[in-house]
Amino acid sequence: MKGLIVKHIEKELKELKVKLGKEEIEKLIEIPPSPEFGDYAFPCFVFVKELKKSSNEIAKNLAERIVKDDFEKVEARGAYVNFFLDREVLANRILKEIVEEKDDYGKENRKKKKIMIEFYQANTHKAFHVGHIRGTSLGESLSRILEFYGYEIIRANYEGDKGMHVAKWIWCYQKFHGEERLIENETWIANVYIDAVKRLTENPELEKEVEEINRKLETREDKTLNELWEKTRNLSLNSFEKIYQELNAKFDVYFFESEMEEKGKKIVDKIFNKRVAHLSDGALIVNLEEHGLGIWVLLRKDGTILYSAKDLALAEIKFKKFKIDKAIYVVGAQQRLHFMQLFKTLELMKFKSKDKLIYVPVSEVRFPWGKMSSRTGENILYSDFKNELIEYAKKEIEEREKIGKDELEKRALRIAIAAMKYSMLKQDTDKPIIFVKEEAMKFEGNTGPYLLYSYARARSILRKSVGGNREISFEKIHDIEKNLISGLGRFPEIVEQAGKTLQPALIANYCYEISKKFNEFYHLHKVIGSENVGFRLLLVRGFTQVLKNGLNLLGIDVLEKM
Ligand code: ARG
Repeated sequence: MKGLIVKHIEKELKELKVKLGKEEIEKLIEIPPSPEFGDYAFPCFVFVKELKKSSNEIAKNLAERIVKDDFEKVEARGAYVNFFLDREVLANRILKEIVEEKDDYGKENRKKKKIMIEFYQANTHKAFHVGHIRGTSLGESLSRILEFYGYEIIRANYEGDKGMHVAKWIWCYQKFHGEERLIENETWIANVYIDAVKRLTENPELEKEVEEINRKLETREDKTLNELWEKTRNLSLNSFEKIYQELNAKFDVYFFESEMEEKGKKIVDKIFNKRVAHLSDGALIVNLEEHGLGIWVLLRKDGTILYSAKDLALAEIKFKKFKIDKAIYVVGAQQRLHFMQLFKTLELMKFKSKDKLIYVPVSEVRFPWGKMSSRTGENILYSDFKNELIEYAKKEIEEREKIGKDELEKRALRIAIAAMKYSMLKQDTDKPIIFVKEEAMKFEGNTGPYLLYSYARARSILRKSVGGNREISFEKIHDIEKNLISGLGRFPEIVEQAGKTLQPALIANYCYEISKKFNEFYHLHKVIGSENVGFRLLLVRGFTQVLKNGLNLLGIDVLEKM
């Protein structure tokens, strides 16, 4: 519907001899904070100089000029022109569009550009913890949004299966846990790592042994070590596979740190020859001090490669092999400096695609009792976290309804995943979250369960209304109904904004807004048995469809019954 407003404004401005393109007009249009200011508002401050009139006068003038056919009214309020869409026109267009386009409502078709979104990136031999859930939910959601918005998306996973953390694990296992059987159990794997860190903190002189293992793992000269690495790496990778399935994430390509060693070293050689990298105390570094980015170490004294240099290789592979137009890295905010160093170094080495790299920093997840850290072992494992939420959900469900065990399990898992994902997506990506279980799991307020509940509630109305070809009349639409339709009509714009700003939070909060509007409507008006039942059922259908589409973009599955 925004397009309609743009068209009117453009026409009138032209007649006033003001040159302003469609896009600029679109950017200026605002969504008023409350329906009494209309469905859309257009501020007139920017024309003051050009038209030599006050912004209030300009607004008044514009409001008078606009042809009112499509609107209930157009009025000037202060410096704004407020547009009130005609409710019949609105209902007719929006609701019809939604039920015709269904799952595609809000989808854009445009020239396909290829974007690679890298996310998940857990490290083998370590825990998949709560912080990873945030990055994974975000990466998957961004992929869905950009896909919906018309891009070709390649989802990439980059798993840390080599490096010092792996050496620590293997060292600790061989030395202290050799008697234990290797098992595909997240907790056991994580505990060996935690034990390694503890022992090394107590006896730092043991680091030497770990470094030796790291070196051997890199040269692959020790067969026993290679085999142990292979086996344990697979344990972690298999356990990850289950996690991203549960989290509704999928990948098109998998990269591994272990594949970047050779290429990384070649690149390092090259940039050493070009004098971008230098030797310092036996290590190979890039000095980025003049750019305020410190020293970036690529190779250790013993010649082993670091995380940094592997990322140089990865960037090259992404662009050369996949011919992408953009590479988005969804990675923890604590790696901000690393990515600035990476991008700067790529620039210094004249990497052609240096302007096509985007880092989306994901801020941390905290708990009311403080931060979690994967090194001290106070972190919360995904599986423990999930199970706790599932138990909680089961209790909630059982208080409301007695259902079979399978159905109970299914619903509880969906609710738990929706609660955790939603609480992580409704917040801006770069702001920390404090996760409070009781809050996230509430069936009311701005939570995942509330949205699922609103959906299920609306679906049950539709189920109860089967049969009968009811006439749909767009006359006598109440304010509250109009307000809901107007909200549903904004979905395509919200998707666009979320895609442009890379913020799924816009969609999350939008879903909450329309659900609130729906519940307000449902609270005041009955649907079945009302005189305008045909129209109201259509409205409910429109709502369920848009909410489902929105939740889908967040990677959250709906439930028919809750
Ligand atoms: N595996 C890394 C970690 O856990 C994150 C990888 C991020 N991606 C990248 N291209 N560096 O710290």
